Amino acid sequence: MRIVLGVGGGIAAYKVASLLRLFTEAGHHVTVIPTEAATRFVGTATWEALSGNPVSNSVFDDVHQVNHVRLGHEADLVVIAPATADLLAKAATGQAGDLLTNTLLMAHGPVLFAPAMHTEMWQHAATRANVETLRSRGVAVLEPAIGRLTGSDSGPGRLPEPEVIFDAAMALVEGQSDYQLPLAGRTVTISAGGTREPLDPVRFLGNRSSGKQGVALAVAARNAGATVRLIAAHMEVLPPPGVDVIKVETALQLREAALAAAADSDVVIMSAAVADFRPAEVSSTKIKKRDDTADPVITLVRNPDILHELVERRNSSGSAEGEQLIVGFAAETGDSHGDVLAYAEAKLQRKGCDLLVVNHVGADKVFGQDTNSVVILARSGSEPQEASGTKTQVSAAIISRIGFELNHVSPRT
Ligand code: CTP
Repeated sequence: MRIVLGVGGGIAAYKVASLLRLFTEAGHHVTVIPTEAATRFVGTATWEALSGNPVSNSVFDDVHQVNHVRLGHEADLVVIAPATADLLAKAATGQAGDLLTNTLLMAHGPVLFAPAMHTEMWQHAATRANVETLRSRGVAVLEPAIGRLTGSDSGPGRLPEPEVIFDAAMALVEGQSDYQLPLAGRTVTISAGGTREPLDPVRFLGNRSSGKQGVALAVAARNAGATVRLIAAHMEVLPPPGVDVIKVETALQLREAALAAAADSDVVIMSAAVADFRPAEVSSTKIKKRDDTADPVITLVRNPDILHELVERRNSSGSAEGEQLIVGFAAETGDSHGDVLAYAEAKLQRKGCDLLVVNHVGADKVFGQDTNSVVILARSGSEPQEASGTKTQVSAAIISRIGFELNHVSPRT
C-alpha cells in the first residue's frame, strides 16, 4: 500500500517516527511530508532514513514529476500525525500553501488525522468547527488521548500512541466506516502485579505475580483507544507508555486506589494478585531473632475482597449493570473437590463480576511466563470463550470481548 504520512509541527512529531516504522515493517511504501515547522522538531534526514524515500515539503522540488498531484493521486491512504490545530484549520478551509496541503486536496483515498495539541486549543470553538467540517466530508479525525501534555499539564490533546494510529489507519483502509477504536472515549482501570503485605520495615508477604498480564492488558486497552489507568502493585515489568500509573504496595492501598478510579471508569479489570490476608500487626522495627524469647508467630487477618466491593458499589450506586463492566481474574489449580471450571463458575457467582478470566495455574504455569491460556466466563451465561497464546494475544482477546460487551452502551460523559 502507498501511504503519505504528513507530519505536523508539534512536539509529538518524534513519536511519529515509531508510526513510520510500524507502516514500513508492515510492508507499506511510505512518503513522509513534514511541514516546515515539523522539521524543527524532527529533521528531514530522520524521515528519509526511516522511510527509505526522499523527503520534501516544497511544491517546487522535482517539479517535472508534479509531486503535489502525483502523491495525492497515488496514495491509498493519507495519515496526518501530529495533526496540529493549524493543519486541521488549513485542511478544513482547503488551503494549499505547501506540498502537504496540496496533497490533501488531491487525495482520493481515505484520510486520517491524529490530532495533538494543548487541551485549550483542541477544545477551542474554531478547532471544534474545523474537526466537524472535516468529519462531515468523510475525513477520519481520531479523538486525541487524554494524559500528560508537553509540560506538566495534562488533559485531552495527547497524540494517540503509534499503535493506536496504526490500527485506526488499517481499519479505515479496510472500509470500516466507524473508524473509531472499540474502546475510544472509554476509561479503563486495570490493577496489575502482586500486593506486598509488610511484616516489618524490611519484610513482607508477597506472591509470584509478575504483572506481565496486567501490563499486556493495559497496552491492548490503550491500543483500542481507551484512556487507561494502571494501578500497579509490585511488578517485574515496566508500565507501558501512554497510561496513567498509580503505584500501590498493599491490598488496602490497592483497594483505595481501585475504588477511587472506578468512580468514573467504564471498565475495571482486576488482574492484580491481591493478598487475601495481611499480618495482623506490622512491627515498626525489624523483628530480631532472640534466644531469650519464643520464635515469633504471624497472625493473619482477612483483606477486603476488592472485586466484590467494586461490584457492590456499582450495583448500589444506582448505575445499571452494563454501564460499568467489571472483570475479575481467577487463578485456580482445581483439586479433589472440584475442577478448575467448577471452582471458577462458583467464583463468578460469588464475586458477581460481569466477566471472569480463568487461569489454570500450577507450579510451572502462568506466573512470570510470556504465554497463557485462559477461559473467559460471562455472568450473562453465554458460552465460555477460550483464548491462548502470548500474554499480548490473550490480552487482545480479552479487550476485544470487553469492547463487544460494551458495544451497546454509550461512553460516559
Ligand atoms: N481479588 C480482590 N481482592 C482480594 C482478593 C482477590 O479483588 N482480596 C480479586 C483478584 O484481583 C481477582 C479475583 O479477585 O480478580 C480472584 O482472586 P482469587 O484470589 O483467585 O480468588 P479468591 O476470592 O481469593 O478465592 P480463593 O482464594 O478461594 O481462590
